[in-house]
Amino acid sequence: TRPITLSKLQKMKQDGEKFTCLTCYDATFTHAMNQAGVETILVGDSLGMVVQGQDSTLPVSIEDMCYHTAAVKRGNSHAFILADMPFMSYSTPNQALENAAKLMQAGANMVKLEGGSWLADTVRLLSERGIPVCAHLGLTPQAVHKLGGYKVQGKDKAAADLILAESLELVAAGADILLYECIPSALGKSLTEAVSVPVIGIGAGSETDGQVLVMHDMLGVNMGRPAKFVKNFLTEGRTIEQAFAAYVADVKSGVFPAPEHTFDA
Ligand code: KIV
Ligand code: NA
Repeated sequence: TRPITLSKLQKMKQDGEKFTCLTCYDATFTHAMNQAGVETILVGDSLGMVVQGQDSTLPVSIEDMCYHTAAVKRGNSHAFILADMPFMSYSTPNQALENAAKLMQAGANMVKLEGGSWLADTVRLLSERGIPVCAHLGLTPQAVHKLGGYKVQGKDKAAADLILAESLELVAAGADILLYECIPSALGKSLTEAVSVPVIGIGAGSETDGQVLVMHDMLGVNMGRPAKFVKNFLTEGRTIEQAFAAYVADVKSGVFPAPEHTFDA
């Protein structure tokens, strides 16, 4: 199988072909996702919660992210690997460049940062240095204490317009992928149409170019009550690899996410 590249993901957007992403933190599950046809893998800082047992993503370090990115890289044959920059590892452009370099050297193909307008200078610097960037907007879990909880974002017109303006600014600065978490479906659709780059959604409706879920959530292993946008694919006597394949099939056919997994304004 040929490696999935940024150009391939751009082409899929142009052709209206949905692509998939799952979080992953180790080599063996990466191999299973490769077999199932998952195009992109996110080494998410959600590992702080699902692997480390923290109550938020804030305690995760750049060393933790590099360790898991290297493990995923070793298990990977052809998927495109995104790695999260953890809390406070990109508070200035230069700090971001230094830490993004570590993730790229650990095996990432792209780094992901949470934020809006304030990230533009950072995105420009990384982009100019040849590091692809995914900007994560909407519900940004590293800001959970500022946001006052894990809540749907962009619900009123002013908030939705702000997300659009910030998205356009980040794409102009060089962002190659945008990821939206927990926004109304209609907003997910209009943002996906408004930007030239591929858009990944989680709790952002069915109209984004790609979908992502946390692996543990979609395998039905969860320590708390799963979020509304989660679906357990490890059902009907499936193996784990078949659950990944079912997720791929359901995203590509538009079966997932269904209305019950999405938010209204
Ligand atoms: O860390 C993570 O798993 C993420 C996804 C939820 C998008 O950022
Ligand atoms: Na994350």
